[in-house]
Amino acid sequence: MKTLSRKLFKLKDLNSILAESHEPGHKLKKVLGPFELILLGVGVIIGAGIFAVVGTAAAGDALRPGAGPAIILSFAITAVACSFAALCYAEFASLVPISGSAYTYSYATFGELIAWVIGWDLMLEYCVGSIAVAISWSSYFTGLLRGFGINLPAWSTIDFRSASHGFTKASELLNNGIPFDKLEPALQKAYQAVSGAPDILGIPVICNIPASLIVLLLTVILVRGIKESSRFNIAIVTIKLLVLGFFVALGSFYIKPQNWTPFAPNGFAGIKAGAAIAFFAYIGFDCVSTAAEETRNPKRDMPIGIIGSLIVCTIIYMLVAAVFTGIVPFGLLKTSLASQKAEPLALAMQHINLGWAAIVVGFGSIAAQIAVLLVLQMGQARIFFSMARDGLLPSFFARVHNKFKTPHVTTIATGLIVASIAAFTNIDEMVDLTNIGTLFAFILVCFGVIILRVKEPHRHRPFKVPLNPIIPLLGVASCIFLMTGLPGITWIRFVAWLVLGLLVYFTYSIKNSVLHKTDPMLK
Ligand code: ALA
Repeated sequence: MKTLSRKLFKLKDLNSILAESHEPGHKLKKVLGPFELILLGVGVIIGAGIFAVVGTAAAGDALRPGAGPAIILSFAITAVACSFAALCYAEFASLVPISGSAYTYSYATFGELIAWVIGWDLMLEYCVGSIAVAISWSSYFTGLLRGFGINLPAWSTIDFRSASHGFTKASELLNNGIPFDKLEPALQKAYQAVSGAPDILGIPVICNIPASLIVLLLTVILVRGIKESSRFNIAIVTIKLLVLGFFVALGSFYIKPQNWTPFAPNGFAGIKAGAAIAFFAYIGFDCVSTAAEETRNPKRDMPIGIIGSLIVCTIIYMLVAAVFTGIVPFGLLKTSLASQKAEPLALAMQHINLGWAAIVVGFGSIAAQIAVLLVLQMGQARIFFSMARDGLLPSFFARVHNKFKTPHVTTIATGLIVASIAAFTNIDEMVDLTNIGTLFAFILVCFGVIILRVKEPHRHRPFKVPLNPIIPLLGVASCIFLMTGLPGITWIRFVAWLVLGLLVYFTYSIKNSVLHKTDPMLK
């Protein structure tokens, strides 16, 4: 019993964590500087959140009130909440510049069991987040192709469950005498997908092929190397910033200040609901920390990378939100179709009769989401890599490619998992799961800072969270606040995922942990 509890709470020594990363065969190339890190952060933060989710946050839907023009405040509130966690991430990332992020930090502070739980939980943020963005990317991409007159078959761009659900609804309406062309576009698509699907051995083939293909393409890029990937990211981030800059600059000529009143049509309830949705738009700044091992001077550059990217994105979000709500009246937003709300910035451009500008914004959105996917997939591969290096996952996963010096096995494994699940799942469930997993990880990181300050008070901290423990505790409180806004079903799925993780830990990882094998007391 005593040995078991020693095993579960055995801490990984920080010095050995740092030494391990220098072992031959496990060493990653150090090529990133502060500028690349900020770009990496901006690359993963700005994506579906500002290009798609902002519409629902401002207008609301059947489940929640909209923030209206006060969505500007929602972005500010969420940014403050994220910045508490960002400061904690920055302290850890500069102290423990090792790939693995919150997983590695927890190993040194809470011990192996919690480290495992957090590593397992982070899959929700990185893997499930990638799945959500891949699905969203696919819908923008197919929409753009449609704009050019290319129509992919409906069965190849939707998941099976959404299609059959929509098919049932559409069939009922058709049976009630509603003509096909009067159905909502989403129902038409579901109906066409089911009725037109080819079948293999009697099973209809309905899956989101573009979502899978984009993930596989990015997997190839990531296997080739971080420097190449970083260059690719810089190109896409540039396009994304230019497109958002274009939106703000052009749109500002069309703002009607009367659209900003009433500023908060649904009061604080709307602002709060908007903040909960806006959280998705900020997910990603912590991914910068997973590149710590590949950073030239992590002690100085990590805090700059994490906090810098958060500040840049907050400014951009508030500007875009101000222009967006200044152009589109709240009344119009509320009554616009769900599909139009999913492309709010394009909707704004169409509202001022600039169709060509809507296409430009559509391209920006596609580029933005590719960049988000790239960094999320990269983060997941590095967390798998760290867990395998510790023996908690099979050591096969801890291999580094001879030529490219990237963790190719985990990169390919991540790509295959994300690509196959993205083909068959629905975006809403994936977004909720991503949010709960990410918030839980933030909470552990905030607690970790407080604990490590007590346990290792004299360790050199190149970056220190100010006002400890107030800021970390504010981080914990704000994450709990946002988590309580998520639906019950998400909580159930989250707990089920963690239970599955514990099963894996007690049947495989505890027996293969490198930490246990090297400690004679624990054999
Ligand atoms: N923050 C990322 C996005 O908005 C997940 O797409």
